Parts: sequence; C-alpha cells; structure tokens
Amino acid sequence: MFQLAVLASGRGSNLKSIIDKLHLSNKNIKITCVISNKKEAKALKIAKKYKIPFYLIDENRYNEKEYEEKLIKTINLYNIDLIVLAGYMKILSPKFVNSFKDSIINIHPSLLPSFPGLHAQKQAIDYGVKISGCTVHYINNKVDAGPIIKQKAVKVEKQDDEASLSKKILKYEHQLLPATIELIAQGKVQINKYRTVSIKE
Ligand code: GRF
Repeated sequence: MFQLAVLASGRGSNLKSIIDKLHLSNKNIKITCVISNKKEAKALKIAKKYKIPFYLIDENRYNEKEYEEKLIKTINLYNIDLIVLAGYMKILSPKFVNSFKDSIINIHPSLLPSFPGLHAQKQAIDYGVKISGCTVHYINNKVDAGPIIKQKAVKVEKQDDEASLSKKILKYEHQLLPATIELIAQGKVQINKYRTVSIKE
C-alpha cells in the first residue's frame, strides 16, 4: 500500500481530486492523513466527510519551531510514502525538507520556472504570456524551485482574467496531480543527478 499525507491550507479541491481518482478508486494508494495549518480550511471538512484522519496544527497557536515539530510528529504517526502539498500555503524549513528527502511534491498553478510564489495566475496575466499551465514538482529548499515531474500547458485567451485562467488551470491540476502521484506510487519516477526527472510511462 502506498500511503499519502496531504497537506492543505484552503478550499481542498486538489485533495478532493486525489480522493476521487486515487483514494476511492485505486486499491494500492490511500490518503492516510490530511493536515492543515488553518482552522478554517475546507480541506479538513472534506477529509472528515471521507473518514480520513485529519489534523489541525493551527499556525496561530505555535511558533515556527513548535509548529514543525508537531507536523513531523503527526506525519510520523504513519508510514508515509509521499507528502503531497495541495494548496499548502506555508514554507517548509530545510530541516523538514531534508527529513523527507525526495518524498514531498507540490502542485503549482504556472509553468515553472515562470511565476513562482503567490498569485501565479495573476502574474501570468499581468506579464501577458500566451501559454500558462500547472506544474507538479518535488520540493527542495527554494520556493517552487524543485525538480519538475510533470507539466500541463493551458492557452491564455485574450479575454482571460485571473479568475478565468485560474479556473481553466485548476481543471488540469485535478488531472495532473493524481496522475503524477500514481506514477510515483508505481515506481515510474526517478530523480536524476542535479535536477532532472525521468518518467517511465
Ligand atoms: C491550487 O491552485 C494550487 O495549484 C495552489 O493552490 C491552489 C489550491 O487549491 N498551490 P485547492 O485548495 O486545492 O482547491
């Protein structure tokens, strides 16, 4: 059994896509816990609905060090194979990243390395790119800069604004993230020396 911990801070639509496409439909892959840093995160309600163990580690109640200790402790309650950041709006320390080396992935709503950080879709609209998209990548010690596993391009039309582009990209996020997790679970993803990733499809 390939076990996932999903970290999410908000709406949880990517969590829901992993539940639908993997947790409920692939007997070899299960979400073993959902963790959020925000008490209002809808992701926690989604986890509850699907009877997945969920944990709130309220970032307002702890300093950074305490927060991360609790996070590590919670993840270590399980035999986690992969940590999935699905709309997790908090930067992880190098200590955390190194303790789960090559086992943390993130979904980002742009074609990295373009437009890392917050409001990626607005950055893309403001810059005037004609193509944007989404990226699933491993986490390293720089924000949105780890080895790229998979990307999907989305055309930016002249009438697009931040909201419409976000909606278009999100639809592909919901396909790309579960598909990438499945490839990793099947042992088809390999991180090469430096930063390239090979996939046996
Ligand atoms: C997504 O656009 C994801 O790419 C970004 O944050 C958003 C989370 O959405 N990292 P949701 O909470 O999964 O609905």
